Order: sequence, then C-alpha cells, then structure tokens
Amino acid sequence: MTPSSWVTAWAGLVPPGATVLDLAAGNGRHTAFFAGRGHRVTAVDRDVSGLSPSDAVEVIQADLEDGSPWPLAGRRFGAIVVTNYLHRPLFPVLFDTLLPGGILLYETFMEGNERFGKPSRPDFLLKDGELLERVRGLFSVTAYEARMISQPKMAMVQRIAARLL
Ligand SMILES: C[S@@+](CC[C@H](N)C(=O)[O-])C[C@H]1O[C@@H](n2cnc3c(N)ncnc32)[C@H](O)[C@@H]1O
Repeated sequence: MTPSSWVTAWAGLVPPGATVLDLAAGNGRHTAFFAGRGHRVTAVDRDVSGLSPSDAVEVIQADLEDGSPWPLAGRRFGAIVVTNYLHRPLFPVLFDTLLPGGILLYETFMEGNERFGKPSRPDFLLKDGELLERVRGLFSVTAYEARMISQPKMAMVQRIAARLL
C-alpha cells in the first residue's frame, strides 16, 4: 500500500478539501493516501475487492474499457490520480472530469519498459513524450519526468503533475 513517490511528492498541489478521483485505483493505495490527507476520494476500478467505502471514500465498480457509459458522467473533481494504468481513449473524458484549475497526477509505464518485463504491450506503454503531448495547450505543467526507476521495481515510466488551465 505504499503510495507512489511521484504522487506523494506532488500531492501538495492538491488544494485542501479538493475532491480526488483515483482512476483504476487497484488496492486503493492513493485512495487511502488522499483520504488520509482529509480529501473525499472516489475510487474506480473494475475489480473493487481491494477497496473499502467509508465516509471519505466512494467506491465505484466499473469497466472503463468495455464500452459502458462513463461512470462519472456529469461529475468533476479537484484532482485526478492515475498510476500504472493506460487506456488511451479515456484521455478526453478524463480531462473533462477535472474542475478548472484541477490537478492531474499521472504516472505509468513507457516504451522501453519491455526490457524489464510487463507491461510490454505497446497499448500499455506511453510513447516518447506522450504525456506532455496529451496535456499540451490544456494544462500548465508543474513537473514531468521520463526515466528509468528502480523502486518499487526496475521500470521505465513517465509521470506528470499538471494543472488544468
Ligand atoms: C497495475 S494496477 C494499478 C492500480 C493502482 N492505480 C496502483 O497504482 O496501485 C491496474 C489497475 O487497473 C484496473 N483495470 C484494468 N483494466 C480495467 C478496466 N477495463 N476497467 C477498470 N479498471 C481496470 C485493474 O483492475 C487494476 O486495479
């Protein structure tokens, strides 16, 4: 349940009291992290067995890739965190789900990761510079990295902290 060092490093960009969406939340390591900082968090995943609802945490079970309606239609959040998940068709609706001035914290694997194992399919790997390209003209970028990491395991990742214009 250790949160990503990128998320902890830039969590201070998220204003106190802002609502947070943890997309493809997994076991909820970032849901728990932001709830612990006093935020109301909505956690979405197709497998919610590792997620526990509470006063601060809303859990939504949804498959984000099977063509079902977007489970957060009409809703917007003060921050969105996505880690270790990529489904490219979601980028437009994801950005539409942020309030103006909202914070995007996104970290996932990029091309080159295949030398370390999975994910290795191109669908699951960001292309060179892709996160920057995705936000260009829409967000103000506070921080961006594309690099090899060794913790929690060797991997190639891209990660961004950005504010919706
Ligand atoms: C590698 S885990 C990352 C979990 C979490 N973000 C983290 O970093 O700890 C990927 C997550 O994406 C979820 N996922 C994969 N395909 C999905 C889909 N089609 N719809 C919703 N969630 C999906 C999985 O259930 C899993 O929890």
